[in-house]
Amino acid sequence: MPTYDFIVVGSGIAGLSYTVKVAQYFQDKQKPIKIALITKTVAEETNTKYAQGGIAAVWDQEDSFDKHIQDTLVAGDFESDQQVVEIVVKEAPERLKELISYGTDFDRKSDGSFDLVKEGGHSDKRILHYKDSTGNEIERALLEKVKSFSSVDFFTHYFAIDLITQHHLGEKVTKDTPHKKCFGVYVLNKKTKKVETFIGKTTLLATGGIGQVYQSTTNPTIATGDGIAMAYRAKAFVKGMQYIQFHPTALYQPGKKPNFLISEAVRGHGGILKNLDGTTFMEKYDERLSLAPRDIVARAIDSEMKKNGTDHVYLDTRHIPKSEIIAHFPMIYHYCLDQLGIDMSEEMIPVVPCQHYLCGGIIVNEHSQTNIEHLYAAGECSHTGLHGANRLASNSLLEAIVFAHRAFEKSVQEFGTQIIPAGIPDWNDEGTRNPEEMVLVTEMTRELESIMSNYVGIVRTDRRLKRAYDRLELIYLEHEELYKQSKITVPLCELRNMINVAYLIIKHARAQRENKGLHYNLDLLNA
Ligand code: FAD
Ligand code: SIN
Repeated sequence: MPTYDFIVVGSGIAGLSYTVKVAQYFQDKQKPIKIALITKTVAEETNTKYAQGGIAAVWDQEDSFDKHIQDTLVAGDFESDQQVVEIVVKEAPERLKELISYGTDFDRKSDGSFDLVKEGGHSDKRILHYKDSTGNEIERALLEKVKSFSSVDFFTHYFAIDLITQHHLGEKVTKDTPHKKCFGVYVLNKKTKKVETFIGKTTLLATGGIGQVYQSTTNPTIATGDGIAMAYRAKAFVKGMQYIQFHPTALYQPGKKPNFLISEAVRGHGGILKNLDGTTFMEKYDERLSLAPRDIVARAIDSEMKKNGTDHVYLDTRHIPKSEIIAHFPMIYHYCLDQLGIDMSEEMIPVVPCQHYLCGGIIVNEHSQTNIEHLYAAGECSHTGLHGANRLASNSLLEAIVFAHRAFEKSVQEFGTQIIPAGIPDWNDEGTRNPEEMVLVTEMTRELESIMSNYVGIVRTDRRLKRAYDRLELIYLEHEELYKQSKITVPLCELRNMINVAYLIIKHARAQRENKGLHYNLDLLNA
């Protein structure tokens, strides 16, 4: 049973930046420690890698912290925690300087200053980016940096199943149990198919988003909400799951999952939303037109599509010079050309809203601590209070680095205080057998995605939510039976997690009795 000083689950921006900081801190102190960095597929397969638009921070003289704070609060429909918004906005420049010091490249103008751009809901140009592949550049730099530390054992193709708490020592643990503690994680080694026990003095969940619970999403296949489900099962508190962000402009490619994103930065650069007959429509919905916050734009598109009986709308970029398009959006330009034969400097791009981001997650305090001792969470799986009812564009990568830093500060401070009890058992799979009916898992997954997309999408009703709840319950019961009988596999566990996450989304959506930001229920319109 290996024992680690720190266990980090997830190799996106949150997990990697935390790992770098912890490793650097103890290296500087010449104190030998061991960090286990666990990730379920290859190192770089993360939501982070696919981030396009960039990362928000105040750099320009004309911009100000107050403006970024106000934009975040407005986008969040004033549901954000103001103190957290201030923390994130004010610490942003420092954290970005660190990312740059690790070797991350951001585009600059000819005078050497950053080429700041604008996205929906921002009152100023404040997005730092690397062309239209910002996430890939950040992930590259962080991975290189992490690999330079000998204190880090990097476990790729290892799937975290469940957190280890007093529950595994035979104690009854409920939401109300005081001093719940985390002692590490049970992890499936995908190569040997054996479950290994990773004992950890401190554990950070940085497992990213939940997009795969929907039929269409910009999130890669790793985004199955594992960390949130694990934490919830371990009796951590979870909040804000009703706030699912649908990005207004995913490329319309029926049957393709994940959906390719057409960055909001394209609208920031002048791209205009149009109906299929070429007429604009955003003026009917918001004075900020195509650059209104995402909840408003996605709902406007959804409404136009329903009214006109169409499957998509268009994003018109034909007025932007081709050279500019290729310079700023090379990846998007080539993807549209290669995949659909669309030259976006000559033709309009068919786009459709699709699931993109989860604003809710595991509740953490300003130090990224959950309600379980020695368990931290950072990045998209966490709920810090920054986003409120709707995230402002490019605030997600930022939140991840700010809170990974805060988790680092607190966890090195509490280092040495943890006591690992004796007798933590290994994973017990007695009486289980290899699952024979994989088709059950595949079909249940399809049903779940369909329920979530049809009943818990951009526009909700009480009836749709109830139907979603009832249908999900059937899947839950069927899955539980299968899970108890079967040896652990990744699809079985991912489905278990997606059911947990879907349950939380529906539960929180049903409990929300006011339309706010991303939560839009027709039955509450006149409430
Ligand atoms: P991720 O980067 O998703 O990393 C999660 C990690 O956890 C992965 O390594 C995964 O393998 C691992 N993991 C998950 N479950 C397990 C398990 N059970 N066992 C082991 N490992 C596990 N945000 C912005 O601010 N700006 C943007 O421009 C932007 N563009 C985006 C574009 C796209 C297409 C997408 C999908 C998102 C975008 N976002 C953007 C959102 C942002 O990218 C994510 O919110 C952010 O990258 C999340 O980082 P993270 O570290 O929390 O998680
Ligand atoms: C985008 O490039 O449109 C994504 C930005 C984000 O999700 O913040």
